[in-house]
Amino acid sequence: MAREFSVGQVAKRSGLSVSALHFYERKGLIRSHRTSGNQRRYDRDVLRRLAIVRMGTELGIPLSEVAEALARVPVGHTPSADDWRAMSVLWHEKLDRRIVLMTRMRDELNGCIGCGCLSTANCPLMNLEDHLGREGSGPRRLLREGKDSYIS
Ligand code: FES
Repeated sequence: MAREFSVGQVAKRSGLSVSALHFYERKGLIRSHRTSGNQRRYDRDVLRRLAIVRMGTELGIPLSEVAEALARVPVGHTPSADDWRAMSVLWHEKLDRRIVLMTRMRDELNGCIGCGCLSTANCPLMNLEDHLGREGSGPRRLLREGKDSYIS
């Protein structure tokens, strides 16, 4: 198995464009090296980094947060299992939060979400006179305390 790839091979395997790879390299999320013939080459572990970048952005996680998590796995050294474990611990919390919010959005958007609009048939029942507005801003019923905890 090849240990290093050209930019085209990385783009093909990661599903990202060459310009995206150059962008992530400028942002310090990945690193390449040059061959004696001045060809840009990437070590194989770049694919895992790019997979995490891609999944993070697909989930709407800001690139700055992805970078913060990937910072646990320093660029330029072959990541160990401990490196990925350290990163996944940080990542776990962020993903839990998104899973709770996404599940509630998927399952509860057709009812009252406690946003103050009082426009659905459920609102008088769930949010009479927008009493949830006294708790704070935003869709209080989606942000509620309880199963899987409160999301601020
Ligand atoms: S959906 Fe907005 S207050 Fe009920």
